[in-house]
Amino acid sequence: MSDRQLSLNLFIYPGGHHEAAWRYKGSAAERILDVTYYQELAQKAEAHKFDAIFFADGPALADNVRYAQRFRFEPITWLAAIAVATRRIGLIATASTTYTEPYNLARLFASLDHLSGGRAGWNIVTTSTAQAAQNFGLPEHPPHHERYERAREYLDVITKLWDSWEDDALINDPVAGVFADTDKIHAINHAGKHFRVRGPLNISRTPQGRPVYVQAGSSDDGRAFAARFAEAIFTAHQTLASAQEFYADIKRQARAYDRSPDQIKVLPGISPFIASTQTEADRLQDEFNELIQPEYSLTQLRQMIGLDLSGFDLDGRFPRHLIDTSAARGVASRFKLVVDIVDREKPTIRQLVQRLAGARGHWVIAGPPEKIADNIQTWFENGAADGFNVMPPWLPGGFDVFAEQVVPILRRRGLFRDDYAGTTLRDHYGLHRPPSAFSSTIQAIA
Ligand SMILES: Cc1cc2nc3c(=O)[nH]c(=O)nc-3n(C[C@H](O)[C@H](O)[C@H](O)COP(=O)(O)O)c2cc1C
Repeated sequence: MSDRQLSLNLFIYPGGHHEAAWRYKGSAAERILDVTYYQELAQKAEAHKFDAIFFADGPALADNVRYAQRFRFEPITWLAAIAVATRRIGLIATASTTYTEPYNLARLFASLDHLSGGRAGWNIVTTSTAQAAQNFGLPEHPPHHERYERAREYLDVITKLWDSWEDDALINDPVAGVFADTDKIHAINHAGKHFRVRGPLNISRTPQGRPVYVQAGSSDDGRAFAARFAEAIFTAHQTLASAQEFYADIKRQARAYDRSPDQIKVLPGISPFIASTQTEADRLQDEFNELIQPEYSLTQLRQMIGLDLSGFDLDGRFPRHLIDTSAARGVASRFKLVVDIVDREKPTIRQLVQRLAGARGHWVIAGPPEKIADNIQTWFENGAADGFNVMPPWLPGGFDVFAEQVVPILRRRGLFRDDYAGTTLRDHYGLHRPPSAFSSTIQAIA
């Protein structure tokens, strides 16, 4: 059994990651308001010893909700309901540094980490959906670099809040009549460009010290932020080469921040169509692509590259000349990803939207279980990934087939755990528990 093992998350998206998943006969589209549906998915991921489940988020309703299940529960609330139905699976929620305040978010994640016994993770986003601004009284979405400037200060403040109670500050001794050692609870008195926060937090230090920091940046700002703060990094790549470039760059930047590369997990997304033969797997993927609705896909594409192709012949060649690469729109990395597909594969418009329908630009692969396991092993053993965000094309069936047919192969090859070694998300990822920056031992060292 090799000692380096894969980290596997289940990325839950209501009906599944293929944009037409909810229309597929096997999906559970009618259950997406039912909390037991998500509790069962989490219990299944836990039964197969996955590291965590993950929920994305954006504080605004997507334009194309007419054609797809594009609404969202608030992730931390959602995960609290799942925490009580599970015991080991990590619980990763997305929350925005642009559209929340540190003190509130510190309380929410501290509560989730306490009530789950140390299983909380925070996917730190600056929010990619521009429409969110109007929901928070802003005339427009702050520019990319400004969002990251605020995010850096935000991380500084919230980390201090989670450290404001030292680990042994909570006494809770009714006989002695002492609840907390107030010498070990610290005001943070933060005064910066974006925030003024006195603190301390009004809840004691959490089992993990703080939630696991997750991030999914891929721009220069995003990568630098990830290398400085993130303990797990989500990313989207279509090819081994582009994943290797990202992996090497992040680990190199992390070393420059004096961080140990093994304390950062790089987790690309993978969306597998699995069947017993290649032909059947391709047919399954085609079946999903036949369910897509151009109105939805073209809106998605417009958000990614800023081009409205609704008047074009879908079976005509994609009009490459209309893309203005100098003015990348939306998420810069997704813009580049789409342009790379167009330049590499010269698709028709229909072929392009079918390529993206699978998982919004993440790696989509079809084939028998052995092939999926081989590809996962190749990325894992060739400097492209420390694990994966598994994005089933449809739920729950697309996850069942991965867990029941691919995971056993990975286990037989010694690439994935047989059982949990610990109880917290940090244990699962092999991450250290950070000491409080206020603790006397740290102060003495400082
Ligand atoms: C797996 C994955 C999940 C993401 N989840 C969210 C999300 O839930 N909400 C969001 O606003 N952005 C999300 N993003 C977008 C990133 O936060 C980020 O904005 C994007 O990768 C672009 O990187 P940049 O911020 O460096 O430009 C996600 C990206 C990836 C790869």
